[in-house]
Amino acid sequence: MNSRNRMAGVTSLAVILGLQIGWASAVLADEPWAERTRALGAIGEMPTGVLSKAELDSLRTTGEALFGANFTPLDGVGRPQATQAIDPTRRKHPREQVFFRTAGPDAGSCGACHNQPALGGAGDFVTNVFASEGFESADFDSLDPQFSSERGTNHLFGAGLVELLAREMSHELQSIRAEALAQARAEEAVVRRKLETKGVEFGFITAEPDGSVNLDDLDGVDTDLVIRPFSQKGVMTSLRQFTINAMNQHHGMQSDERFGARWTGSADFDGDGVSGEMSAVDVSALVAWQATLQVPVRKVPDVDGWAGAAARGEASFTDFGCTVCHRPALPLQSLSFADPGPFDLAGTLNDRQVEETAIYDVGLMDWAAALPRDEQGRVLVPLFGDLKRHVMTDNQIDALGNELLSQRFVDRNIFQTAELWGVGSTGPYGHRNDFSSLNDIILAHGGDGRAARDAYAAAADADKSALIAFLKTLVIIP
Ligand code: HEC
Ligand code: HEC
Repeated sequence: MNSRNRMAGVTSLAVILGLQIGWASAVLADEPWAERTRALGAIGEMPTGVLSKAELDSLRTTGEALFGANFTPLDGVGRPQATQAIDPTRRKHPREQVFFRTAGPDAGSCGACHNQPALGGAGDFVTNVFASEGFESADFDSLDPQFSSERGTNHLFGAGLVELLAREMSHELQSIRAEALAQARAEEAVVRRKLETKGVEFGFITAEPDGSVNLDDLDGVDTDLVIRPFSQKGVMTSLRQFTINAMNQHHGMQSDERFGARWTGSADFDGDGVSGEMSAVDVSALVAWQATLQVPVRKVPDVDGWAGAAARGEASFTDFGCTVCHRPALPLQSLSFADPGPFDLAGTLNDRQVEETAIYDVGLMDWAAALPRDEQGRVLVPLFGDLKRHVMTDNQIDALGNELLSQRFVDRNIFQTAELWGVGSTGPYGHRNDFSSLNDIILAHGGDGRAARDAYAAAADADKSALIAFLKTLVIIP
């Protein structure tokens, strides 16, 4: 598609938004249903190529409106005949009501949960989600952890850079595998290589001359060597995949690219009488908005002595070993966010399924200019994370071992390092959002986090307080 077509879509959006604000009666005359979410279908065609700032802004505006929208029956809210499962799954008995607190739909809008301290943010305990194992789960009406894992809502600020980091890391791990295999074949010898990318180690891979690989010594990453940076568990690949999952789970809004006739053989898989509920462009708009949300920043509260305490606390954060997992920054080569992306599988559009992807240049955002760069020109993404999964319980400290289900083959006591940017603006804490202080969640680190936790626990009260003063400077300022 050429860029004129793309602009046509953008212009019509501007018209729609203009009408919505200025001439509501004209809109109603064109379209009698005032309760239809007007941002749905606002942009006509899939964007392609590098979007200009104006094009990106239009797409973001639509994405933000969709993220904040309370979907209605006219839009196709609810899923009487389908479950929350990631793989399209029919329900055994049709559901009478739209909302259902456990297996969903459980909220009016994405923003109903992601709003702390602003749209796209985290959520309080009251917004917890009951995540099932994932792919073919049935309905459940119980909070019993044998049916679902209760998770707290994390914030999405900086999520585009998190996904870009994960993509670069996945590419690098996969190229280490390719090189090891090539070398094993060429030298007819077993080749063992360390899997390290951006300074984070993911164990070892052993390549055999016959072209097979031994993956027994992988650490904190899936066997396909794709870093999946989303969900508390680190098992979801992309904003696009998560958005499609969330739209179905939380709202019963089904995207064509997963629930449409092409995959399910039915234009109305959830049986609510509405087909084509969410197009690939609607999903792209949601991705574009999330992918360009500004990163959290550092801000010292206007309190005497806080700056000095935070500086001491930041030093202890390293000394205690917190930075082993909560890496202050990871270097990112490129700010070009291709959508659809490279690592999604069936049910989420990927770059092999479109003629040309769209590129959202995150560098066009005003806030991106303030990001520090290293001597090679790479952006230093200050996420305080490593995008790696770790064992978080041991025999003495097992507060984080409260889940009973493994998810996508990841054991129940393993979680991805929480990115701590923004932690001063969100709370409560932990994957179930059930620790009401930073002190409590730090003391809950067992397993691989035990040594750092013990160093913190043994410190003087003033030093613990200084460390927390530092964490409190990592805030979201919308
Ligand atoms: C009922 C509350 C709720 C609603 C509504 C909701 N979310 Fe979430 N969101 C969560 C929770 C809880 C998690 C963490 C899930 C997990 O760890 O399994 C999450 C995680 C995410 C993540 C991954 C973030 C990360 O860093 O891991 C994305 C992306 C996301 N949500 C997008 C959306 C979108 C888009 C919508 C609307 C379609 C939405 N969410 C609606 C509660 C909600
Ligand atoms: C072995 C890796 C590892 C080390 C070392 C580690 N953490 Fe964590 N941290 C994690 C993981 C994984 C989580 C997510 C735990 C969960 O909720 O299941 C986490 C969560 C957190 C959270 C909660 C964030 C939120 O938004 O809920 C805070 C705060 C935190 N860590 C601080 C620290 C501090 C301070 C230290 C050093 C004393 C430390 N961590 C050491 C891996 C680590």
